[in-house]
Amino acid sequence: MQPLSILALHGPNLNLLGQREPGIYGSLTLAEINRLLDEEAFKLQAKVFPLQSNHEGILVDSIHGALGLHQGILINAGAYTHTSVALRDAIAAVNLPTVEVHLSNIYRREDFRHHSYIAAVVIGQISGFGVQSYLLGLQALVNYLRVKS
Ligand code: DQA
Repeated sequence: MQPLSILALHGPNLNLLGQREPGIYGSLTLAEINRLLDEEAFKLQAKVFPLQSNHEGILVDSIHGALGLHQGILINAGAYTHTSVALRDAIAAVNLPTVEVHLSNIYRREDFRHHSYIAAVVIGQISGFGVQSYLLGLQALVNYLRVKS
């Protein structure tokens, strides 16, 4: 089986995981989450390429750059989930299978977090399971890509 290449995108403020509102986002750092993703990917015969940015344009550029390089995208867009038409359009434009994940359950939180601009252009969303959201999201994405090919 060919190893699948997955771009794992982390949006704004996720670089502060571990110290940022641990009651909501947990105590793992982003480096620890990336290490767990790496281990999970290995089991799934895939490879994850992580990138975190606080800048919307960099996230848009990296989605464009995924074309021809990666087979799918795993994304926690952070607050841009609720604001960014540009990210939504970038995902739609490259048309790569994408899974949206959130550490917290965005539907149990403030009203402004209930709407995701990217939800309509991803294959699915996993929200509320802490780091498991990422691991479940990766499993779902890899499974989707394997069934499709
Ligand atoms: C988040 C939820 C967003 O509402 C928030 O802005 C984040 C993190 C999550 O993983 O739970 O930065 O995407």
